[in-house]
Amino acid sequence: MINPKDYLDRILTIEIGRCTEAAAVEASKMIGRGDKEGADQAAVTALRDALNKLDIDGKVVIGEGERDEAPMLYIGEKVGTGNGPAVDIALDPLEGTTLAAKAMSNALAVVAMAQGGSLLHAPDVYMDKIAVGPGFPDGVVDLDADVTDNIAALAKAKGVETSEITLCVLDRERHQPIIDGARKMNARVFFIPDGDVAGIFHTTEAHTGIDLYVGRGGAPEGVLAAAALRCVGGQMQGRLHFRDDAERGRAEKIGITDLNRKYELMDLASGDVFFAATGVTNGTMLDGVKWDSGFVSTHTVVMRSHTGTVRYIRARSPV
Ligand code: FBP
Repeated sequence: MINPKDYLDRILTIEIGRCTEAAAVEASKMIGRGDKEGADQAAVTALRDALNKLDIDGKVVIGEGERDEAPMLYIGEKVGTGNGPAVDIALDPLEGTTLAAKAMSNALAVVAMAQGGSLLHAPDVYMDKIAVGPGFPDGVVDLDADVTDNIAALAKAKGVETSEITLCVLDRERHQPIIDGARKMNARVFFIPDGDVAGIFHTTEAHTGIDLYVGRGGAPEGVLAAAALRCVGGQMQGRLHFRDDAERGRAEKIGITDLNRKYELMDLASGDVFFAATGVTNGTMLDGVKWDSGFVSTHTVVMRSHTGTVRYIRARSPV
């Protein structure tokens, strides 16, 4: 007979996909309306309602912000019925608010869940990140190495010329040195306007053509991307980046003592991790929400690190 805890875990893996579906469906009503806050709020409300239906004793560790700035899904908020396992939850009800507001690709609803204490409680500051997909020797790239050396090492490990390497980066001025390095190595650069959870996830699927993700984005998004990599394989490192003392204070307040620490994948997300993402707008990995002939359709990926199973779920519900 299946162990009841395993059974519950298997149900939860699918259930968190239902939660991201609900967030994506509500956010999709706001696609292209130029209102990123409104789109985010629609996703937040739906995700919170869906999470509160789950039999979990959940605590939001990566959420919409501190309690005094976010009325819903704030860091520390308890979610679920309380009748079930104690889990930490990292979420981004709408990853890529601008993407949704402008009807651009790759806006997602994202949730990761793991037993208490497994997900880094990252403050809402920047994080420098580097990630590659599965199948490479440990340490093939390093956050502290020059981008040219990382491209050369990855090309060598892949057995190709550096011109065959594609690096993904957020299109920001601050990333010019990374872009210059890639150009010097004659590598390809795949720019994304927003959404580095999807950017990092792209390294795990050959069809995207993306080998390497490098650059600075949100630290909360870093933990969510790490949760996804824990499930599908791949390597990632991150380091928090503070712009001022107020940001340093935010990290210290949540117990981070080594502000310069280089986090490895297992420091960002350890234990048995569940991850789900649903496409809001069409994207490279997931289709967006579609409304057609009295039905709403969603495309979701759910995965679990313990089993390594990756499920793509297409759902259609009458409206
Ligand atoms: P939002 O969903 O909060 O709009 O974040 C989108 C995003 O592109 C993240 O994916 C990324 O980590 C971060 O913003 C980058 O921040 P910035 O726009 O300040 O460079």
